[in-house]
Formats: sequence, C-alpha cells, structure tokens
Amino acid sequence: MKTVNIGLCGLGTVGGGVYAVLKRNAALISARAGSNILVSHVGTRSINPRCVTASTKISRDVVQISEDPDIHIVVELIGGTSAAFDLIMSAIRNGKHVVTANKALIAERGPEIFVEAEKYEVIVAFEAAVAGGIPIIKALREGLVANDIHWMAGIINGTSNFILSEMSSKKRKFQEVLEEAKEKGYAEADPSFDVDGTDAAQKLAILASIAFSIPLNTKSIFKEGIAHLQPRDIEYASELGYVVKHLGIARQKPTGIQLRVHPALVPASCLLSSVDNVLNAIMVDCDALGSTLFYGRGAGSEPTASSVIADIVDISRFVTTSNVSGTRPLGVKFADIKNKKILPIEQIETCYYLRFSMHDTPGALSKATSIMAEIGISIEAIIQKEQPLGIDYVDVIVITNSIMELHLSLAVRKIEQLETVQGDATVIRLERLDQV
Ligand code: HSE
Repeated sequence: MKTVNIGLCGLGTVGGGVYAVLKRNAALISARAGSNILVSHVGTRSINPRCVTASTKISRDVVQISEDPDIHIVVELIGGTSAAFDLIMSAIRNGKHVVTANKALIAERGPEIFVEAEKYEVIVAFEAAVAGGIPIIKALREGLVANDIHWMAGIINGTSNFILSEMSSKKRKFQEVLEEAKEKGYAEADPSFDVDGTDAAQKLAILASIAFSIPLNTKSIFKEGIAHLQPRDIEYASELGYVVKHLGIARQKPTGIQLRVHPALVPASCLLSSVDNVLNAIMVDCDALGSTLFYGRGAGSEPTASSVIADIVDISRFVTTSNVSGTRPLGVKFADIKNKKILPIEQIETCYYLRFSMHDTPGALSKATSIMAEIGISIEAIIQKEQPLGIDYVDVIVITNSIMELHLSLAVRKIEQLETVQGDATVIRLERLDQV
C-alpha cells in the first residue's frame, strides 16, 4: 500500500485531534483511503510527545513543511490570516495539496488562494472551516449538486448558541456564560468574533459562495450579534411559542440575494429551535430535495478533526491514483463565479418581534397599532404585560406578519416618537423557515 505523507502544521486543539483520530482509526482510514496516511512532519512551537514518533520530523517554522519534498498534503491548523496565508501559498507553489480549517482565511483570502491552486494544479480543501464536523461543504457541493438552492438558515456559531441556550434554559447571564464558553475552548481566540457575528458571517460567506456561485465576500453580509439581547425578550419569545437563535441566512429572491447573520425568533415547532448548547445545524431548502437539515458538533477537537481527515482522505485518493474528481473549491470554475445583486437589509422581507415600553393610558396602544396599520403592517400577535408595582410603563410585545424592513423601521421610528412610549423599541427578526 502506498503512503501519503502529511505535514501537520499546528498541534493545538484541532491538530491534536487530527493526530489522535488518525492514530486511533488508522486501520479503517487506510482501508478507506487505499493508502497509509502518515503524519511525517509536524510544525509546532511546543512538542506534544503524543503527536510524534521517533521518525517524525519537527519544525518550529511551518514554512519548512511546505518546502519538504516528501510531503504530499500540508494541513494548516495554525489559524489567523497572515502566517497561515503565507504557509498555504508556499505549500501551493511547492506543489503541495492543502487542507485547512481556517474559515477567516478562506472567507477573506480564498480567491487569491484558489487562483494559485488552479495555476499549480493542486487541491485546497476546507470542509472543517464551516460547522466543524458537519460535512456541509461536501453536501452542498456534491450531495446537492442537482438542486437549485432556495435558501439556507443555520446555527453556525456554537458559542452564541451555547450562550443563548444557557440564558434561555437556566436564566444565566450573558457574560458568565461567555466566560464558560472561553474556558471550554468553544470561543475564538478573540471571542468578540463569536458574539458580534463575525465568525458566523465568515462561514455564511463560504456557504453562500458554494450554494449560489457568488464571490466570497463577507462585506456584503448584514451582521448583528447577540450581546444586546435582553433575557426578557428571550422569555417573551418563549411565551409566544418561539426560541431566539443566532442564524446565518442566505436566500435567493427574484430581486436579489439576502445574506445576513443576526438573532431571530424561530418557531418552537421548527427543528432548528431544538438545536441547543454548542451544537450547529444548517437547514437547506432546495428544489429537488425540498428541506434537509445537517446537525452536529460545530467545534471541538475531534469533531473538527473528522472533517480535516475527510479532506485528507479525499486528496490522498487523488495523490495515489491521480483519479481527479474534478471538484472545484467553490463548486464551479472561477470564471463561473458571478456577482449577483445582494439585497441591502432594508429590502429584506420577514416577520418581526417588537417590544416597546408604553405608558399605560387609554388609547396609547391604539395609536401605536394605527401607525402600523397606516404603513401596511399586519399584526399577528400582541401582548401587553401587566404593570409591575411602582413602574408607570408596561412592556408591549408585537409579532408582525412579513413586511419589508424599510417599512418596519419607519413604523418603529414613528412609534418611538409617541409621547406615551419610553426609550427605543427592541426589534428582533422572526424567521418561520417555511417559505421559499
Ligand atoms: N468559535 C467557533 C464557534 C468555533 O463557536 O462556533 C468553530 O468555528
């Protein structure tokens, strides 16, 4: 049996997981790959004795791995977008195939990398970059290749999902749960990327590019995080039969493509609402199959290693047999990646949850509902909470029917100007996830 030599750059959480799974499942992986997968060179600044053997080469400078003539596949698990980019470009120029779990790098610099990979006729694979262990890239690019994809909606940041789940089920405070997510290794090196939606936007950019053959572009994605969410909105949503989730949504409409990451109310009856803790799930709606759901661990050592190794095995078959699958990184040739109109957030149409604080006087509520009626907003549900002792204002919660965000914002501005309304309204989008 032939041997495929791996250069493993980075022996942290994911790199350690890759080594451990390759070792534990060596027999079944080599049977499936048709070759021995050997980690023959590791790039690390601190040696983990469990991840090396007497014959393993070790380099502190990962670029040496990209130049090692024995290496077939360079696995980039060092993270960041600077040294990792240099490593990958050097690997490609030295004729190596590349596997990476680096979503920030693919989302921000993917085009430069893919162009170079095409030139040097090597493969760059990145299954682990989105949703950890869930094989969503392969599913979109290969399993669903026959389908016109209508929309995708996913819980694609485990840290945010963990925080929202704990706030909802255990009434815990945002900051306290974030600290736990950091300790458990779910969060990014800079956890603000998790809670402000950056991580989810990078993942959505990759998914949308594959699904709709559009350029990778995080800047065109509307982004909102979870830090501003109030526990009482989570409670009111629950009273109304909804769960608050942080979603990444990509949807094709006749007028353009919606690309957005933000918190949203999801019906409690929808499968996505039951995806709790650090788990990820992506719902894909397409023409031939209909709706399908991909669910599993979106972060962590061995779940992410599972995807990294899947890419290694795919490439190893090519290395040993030159049996080119013809699969392109984004599913189609670069020339076929086309700019399409991305809708600004004001032009999306969806339902909304509104909460405003209102003085409990006769006619106050009807003034607010009249504003909505004049603008053409239909109210689906409305609740006025009882006035707490010693407080003059009551919470009013409204669920609207589908309306363009522009019109909703106009109504909110007018309601906020009413004398009886105190402070700003809280607005959370609501996704029924049942419409094309
Ligand atoms: N910080 C990420 C998350 C890890 O919480 O989902 C996986 O990308």
